[in-house]
Amino acid sequence: AAADPASGEKVFNKCKACHTLEAGKNKIGPSLQGIIGRTAGTVEGFKYSEAMKAAGTGGLVWNDETLDKYLENTKGFVPGNKMPFPGLKKPEERADVIAYIKSMMK
Ligand code: HEM
Repeated sequence: AAADPASGEKVFNKCKACHTLEAGKNKIGPSLQGIIGRTAGTVEGFKYSEAMKAAGTGGLVWNDETLDKYLENTKGFVPGNKMPFPGLKKPEERADVIAYIKSMMK
């Protein structure tokens, strides 16, 4: 089935404790507004792990594919990163939440 942003909005409830989609509003995690096409570890004012900053310096840019890989296995994809969330096991949940996040980009 095609990725469904409406279902993704429900999946995003799992992210909301730590992330907003409002520019400049960081919580436990960085704002995800503008995440598509952004280099990892570069939201202003957010204190990232050294691992996430190094991933960005090494060329990691967030897009459909890299978000899917990170959300599939957060610690495996960026070893040492400090997101206290293991990820989403179901490919469909990942595709839907990525579609939702994309639908919210300004
Ligand atoms: C980092 C997505 C759930 C806390 C990130 C990044 C993404 C992301 C894309 C990298 C941001 C960047 O490079 O600017 C998501 C999504 C979630 C989710 C889609 C839900 C499916 C959570 C939860 C928490 C959390 C529940 C807190 C319990 C963090 C933290 C970082 C982070 C602390 C920074 C990691 C570091 O500096 O190593 N998240 N996240 N996230 N997230 Fe999440």
